[in-house]
Amino acid sequence: MAFPLLFLLFLSIPFSESKLTIDYYKNTCPDFEKIMRETVTTKQINSPTTAAGTLRVFFHDCMVDGCDASVLISSNSFNKAERDADINLSLPGDAFDLVVRAKTSLELACPGIVSCSDILAQATRDLITMVGGPFYKVRLGRKDSFVSKASRVDGLVPTTNMSMNAVIDVFTSKGFTIKEYVALAGAHTIGFSHCKEFSQRIFHYSKTSPSDPEIYPKFAEALRKTCSNYVKDPGMSAFNDVMTPSKFDNMYYQNLQRGLGLLSTDHALIKDPRTKPFVDLYAANQTAFFQDFSHAIQKLSVYGVKTGRKGEVRRKCDAFNNFKA
Ligand code: HEM
Repeated sequence: MAFPLLFLLFLSIPFSESKLTIDYYKNTCPDFEKIMRETVTTKQINSPTTAAGTLRVFFHDCMVDGCDASVLISSNSFNKAERDADINLSLPGDAFDLVVRAKTSLELACPGIVSCSDILAQATRDLITMVGGPFYKVRLGRKDSFVSKASRVDGLVPTTNMSMNAVIDVFTSKGFTIKEYVALAGAHTIGFSHCKEFSQRIFHYSKTSPSDPEIYPKFAEALRKTCSNYVKDPGMSAFNDVMTPSKFDNMYYQNLQRGLGLLSTDHALIKDPRTKPFVDLYAANQTAFFQDFSHAIQKLSVYGVKTGRKGEVRRKCDAFNNFKA
């Protein structure tokens, strides 16, 4: 009985994904893990916003045709790359800088071996763990994409003005369950958002109220102060998790229960009967959140990966090896 069951399990894993292994670089780049850990630690200590920035870059990369480092490619006169899609313009430079540093060290130790997509996946895991989140295993062996087009991004990466139905569609169309989406949204336990992403909730919300009445009033007031000048100064921003902004924990879900959610899509999680039970579960039980987040981000990390000849190991993470228009 065991054999057919195992066989069925094997069949249910897409082929390219099944080629990834935990110890992919064991013989070809034995110091891979050490070099990654050292680079990531130095960068995070010097620029503490790196963790959240890298996690967001990784998420945006994976959502558009898989975790293949397509988001790292720079545009040129012939190609407007993913990174220059509107929604990606706010992706922070520190995350890209981290990848450059890691790639430079790895190319010195083992030239032409480690892909940029593996660097991004491993850096994301190391950083999540470093800021207090769970440790999970990262399967390796991704190849980097041959394609990166800004025009591919719209509709594949969720935006704050989407309805819950639309957001759920974005995730379920890629094979994620609603529960996995709620667990992944817990990534907003770290990092920040620019005022323009939530300004509609705190200024001119309706004829009767300047802000969304479901936001905790003192929180709305504080946000209005922080963002008072945001049109002239678009860099103004607020923490996604106002209580413990730099710690990866389950406070994000507790905040949602108290009207302290920042983005409208965050707040919607506590309103919608399809997502609320999971918010309540994770708010009450950090262990459950960590377990489900680990599972969901492992699934995200292998989404749409390229292996074999479907991709390449880039020499520089921001350019294809062979120039392509
Ligand atoms: C409905 C789904 C989601 C929407 C609409 C959304 C939208 C946003 C927006 C608008 C920001 C602020 C960006 C800025 O102003 O610079 C942000 C930040 C962030 N998002 Fe999401 N997001 C979603 C889901 C996710 C998921 C699933 C992850 C990761 C697995 C994630 C990770 C992050 C992180 C870490 C930040 C902070 C970035 C930083 O501090 O540099 N988001 N998100």
